[in-house]
Amino acid sequence: MYTKLNLIPLFFIIFFRTSVAFQDGILFSTPNFPQPYTGQLSERRSVSVNETQGVAVVFEQFLASAHDCVIACPTNNDGCSSLCGDAMDHGLVPKILRVPGSADIAMVSIEQNDGFPHSGISGKIISYDLNTISFFQCNDQVDLSTGETYYLVSQNYPLSPTTEFSSCSINFSTSGNRQGIRFAVYDFYTNQNQKDSFFITGSNGQNVKITGFATEDEPVVYYFQNGANAIFSITHQDHSFIQKRFYILVKSYEIAAEKQCDNMGNFNLALGQSINFGTKQFGINSYDNNLNCGYNFSRVATANSLFALGIQYESEKCCDTMVIDGLTEYEQIYQGFQYSNLFFTKSQQVSFLFQSDGIIGGTGLNASLEHIDCTCSPDMMLGKNSVLTSPGYTNSISYCPGLECSSNIEFQDDLYDLQLEFTDISLRGYSLNNETDSLTVYDSYQHIVVQMMPFYAAFTSFWATVSPVNVQFISKSLTAFPLDQIGRGFSVNLNLLKKQFVTNNIVFNDAFFFEDISNLLLKSGNTYEFVITGRAGHQISIYFFTKTTNQVFIDIFDGDSMDAKRIDNKALYSNVLENGPSLSLTTTSEKAILHVRGNPTFLQPGTDFQAMITDLKLPTECGPLVHSMREQKTSSGDITLRGNNCYKVLHFSDSSYNQGAFMNIAFSKPISSKIFYGLTTSSDDCIAHNSSEPIAQDLFKNYLVLQYSTTDISSVSYSWAISSGIIARTMQPGETVVLVSDDYRKYNASPLDQQFSVQLEGESNVQTGLMCEFLADSGSGAGTLSWSSYDDIKQKTSYSNAKKSLKYASCGNKLLVDYTSPDGGPDNGLYLKITRADLRCSRSPMRLSISVIVLLTVSFISLIF
Ligand SMILES: *[C@@H]1O[C@H](CO)[C@@H](O)[C@H](O)[C@H]1NC(C)=O
Ligand SMILES: *[C@@H]1O[C@H](CO)[C@@H](O)[C@H](O)[C@H]1NC(C)=O
Ligand SMILES: *[C@@H]1O[C@H](CO)[C@@H](O)[C@H](O)[C@H]1NC(C)=O
Ligand SMILES: *[C@@H]1O[C@H](CO)[C@@H](O)[C@H](O)[C@H]1NC(C)=O
Ligand SMILES: *[C@@H]1O[C@H](CO)[C@@H](O)[C@H](O)[C@H]1NC(C)=O
Ligand SMILES: *[C@@H]1O[C@H](CO)[C@@H](O)[C@H](O)[C@H]1NC(C)=O
Repeated sequence: MYTKLNLIPLFFIIFFRTSVAFQDGILFSTPNFPQPYTGQLSERRSVSVNETQGVAVVFEQFLASAHDCVIACPTNNDGCSSLCGDAMDHGLVPKILRVPGSADIAMVSIEQNDGFPHSGISGKIISYDLNTISFFQCNDQVDLSTGETYYLVSQNYPLSPTTEFSSCSINFSTSGNRQGIRFAVYDFYTNQNQKDSFFITGSNGQNVKITGFATEDEPVVYYFQNGANAIFSITHQDHSFIQKRFYILVKSYEIAAEKQCDNMGNFNLALGQSINFGTKQFGINSYDNNLNCGYNFSRVATANSLFALGIQYESEKCCDTMVIDGLTEYEQIYQGFQYSNLFFTKSQQVSFLFQSDGIIGGTGLNASLEHIDCTCSPDMMLGKNSVLTSPGYTNSISYCPGLECSSNIEFQDDLYDLQLEFTDISLRGYSLNNETDSLTVYDSYQHIVVQMMPFYAAFTSFWATVSPVNVQFISKSLTAFPLDQIGRGFSVNLNLLKKQFVTNNIVFNDAFFFEDISNLLLKSGNTYEFVITGRAGHQISIYFFTKTTNQVFIDIFDGDSMDAKRIDNKALYSNVLENGPSLSLTTTSEKAILHVRGNPTFLQPGTDFQAMITDLKLPTECGPLVHSMREQKTSSGDITLRGNNCYKVLHFSDSSYNQGAFMNIAFSKPISSKIFYGLTTSSDDCIAHNSSEPIAQDLFKNYLVLQYSTTDISSVSYSWAISSGIIARTMQPGETVVLVSDDYRKYNASPLDQQFSVQLEGESNVQTGLMCEFLADSGSGAGTLSWSSYDDIKQKTSYSNAKKSLKYASCGNKLLVDYTSPDGGPDNGLYLKITRADLRCSRSPMRLSISVIVLLTVSFISLIF
């Protein structure tokens, strides 16, 4: 039937023999035509004609991927013309490429193929006379019995004829098996008012008249038997907007009995049931001729079900069709290429009738129809691990449109954490406006844990520490989608993981009402539980120093058990001020339970959580209780001090927990204020009873507590940094310098070597020397004290396990203190007070003035002062 040329992707040159009849030519097609093709096209050839001829390419089938083209170029010239995609589908597209002279012709894929098995391209390359531009001769006799296609194409097509044709009669005959003759009219326009006419008369007397714009909507087709005569007249027109023209494929065929398809008949689909139907070997073979395949489907609708139809379709445009009833309001007719789609319909009956004639096929039909269940997953009470999916996830083609699923997932949160592990998430990205499908997970505070939109490609694992979790799945109500964008929906594993509690009991009293809860081992997966009992009638406040949005779970129960109401932690997502007054959340009574746990999904290496708890409630005149600084070497700015019997907690967040981190503070004016070293109000830690009392300049604690009463408004400012190397101070004669080592009063201090130097200024005339006094036992801390005058060492004394009140004095105006702590215990540390001694030292460097006095008794101390 088809002379298949073995097309190779090379140029090869064909010379038309000058004697060949006008309908002779070179057939070409996509590989394996009429079988559908996929994959890239790449075929080229050169066609040479003599100087009175041109080359025309005409098509019998042209259903290809959008960027698969036939391109005809004049040899050695540009000005190419081309046809691409589904040219046979569009009435207004001329089905010819003409080159006035020799031509290079290519059938190529310009871009990636769409993957659909298209029906293909087949056509013929013919030569034509440049003077007549005619593709037929009036009064021709055509024998169609070989089965070849006759291209009945108007003169000068696609433009109007250059001359008048009157009463042309082309007689078509056939013999043998091929009794049928088909006229497939793909392009037709004539004007009756200008006395144009076109008749086809069958040998059995059957008569057809074609007029006007016959192919405006779709191609038209006529069938005859044995013989037919086309008689037409077209008057000449010079200027017209619409070209008079026709493009008709005439071909003989065997008349045969109708054939049927598999799976035909009437079916009732139960809920969840799905049926595949279509033409045989879809995608591999062209469908058969003479098919008459009917499928009727019905369903008994439930409150929440639809028909879902997935369909792939392409057929010969002129002549093979499928009628669909029940999919939309109106009957639909498919012919040619149809986009592969997924449709949803509420209708309870859908029927399909696919019919092909006796000539050529195409890709055909592949469809599946499902009685799809759109029921959302119900709420769940998890006793063990489970799975939550979108409706129909496991067995349906996709998920229904118009869903608003909301599933509450409850679990025993006193025993378990819940992990939501998404194993699949695929939402439809197709939308007409900007609204798309979405999946949102809310925690039990109704805060969004994650919102997934189409093409989501980020975290897939999420955690919840408190019950319930809510999963909302929304699908928009569009009812047709490209089959490659339908979305599978989602599936999420719900895994229960046993909580590992690390519990701390905190009971506040009048001597103890501050507790730091920082520096937890968040990556351990432990749930740090603080069971807090305040003094009667006191509420409990938790002050937060670090922003830990998403990275740390913080659940506060407003009572003495997990059954108590939880305090909304939303403020922690945005309101924590890391440099300034600290945000707090407060219970309604003196009982609270606090859970802190690292979020395994979002915890970053080095994520730190810092907070403190107190049951202290101050009168509002005192102002904010807690102030924190995260930024190093930056002043807090003035923090107002006013009010009676107020407290102020000054804190800095050093996430490295460096032992050498220290705070400097300064008061705007003297104020009656106790200063406590650390987060404490214990008298042992009181380092000043008065803001005028000398305190160490570098305070190696990340907390200080001020307790004050003032009628005047005053202020304090502080900053922090990490010390490096020696701490050097100068000292005025009347001044007292206090030094602390960085392990002083620290429980888990590391072994340490630290050096201090104190230089007395302005004493060159009257040398009095320097005295130092231990203000606390040094524990196993030991070291040396060296006095010097200029570069002259005056005295060097070792100390170890020095007791509180131990004093040393020597001449010299510079004191060097070496301190070594071997093990870091709570009792170690250096706490020294340096004052001017009163030794009347000689200025002569000749004689070393050794005057070390060891003073142990209180009476002696009072003598010196
Ligand atoms: C060109 O070919 C046509 C048709 O084959 C023939 O009639 C004509 O004589 C040829 N002309 C020349 C110059 O060869
Ligand atoms: C058409 O051709 C057939 C066979 O060649 C012949 O019998 C018939 O008379 C012809 N008809 C016309 C209208 O020329
Ligand atoms: C489908 O239903 C139509 C109308 O109800 C009927 O005419 C046709 O025969 C049915 N087709 C099949 C294949 O049963
Ligand atoms: C035909 O349709 C079914 C169901 O939609 C699908 O699984 C199958 O892959 C399709 N066949 C081809 C060749 O595309
Ligand atoms: C849709 O979203 C895009 C980008 O997000 C925006 O530029 C556009 O204005 C939106 N269109 C409508 C109709 O909202
Ligand atoms: C506090 O300082 C003032 C001077 O500013 C002084 O008179 C008073 O004695 C100091 N009080 C204490 C307890 O040190």
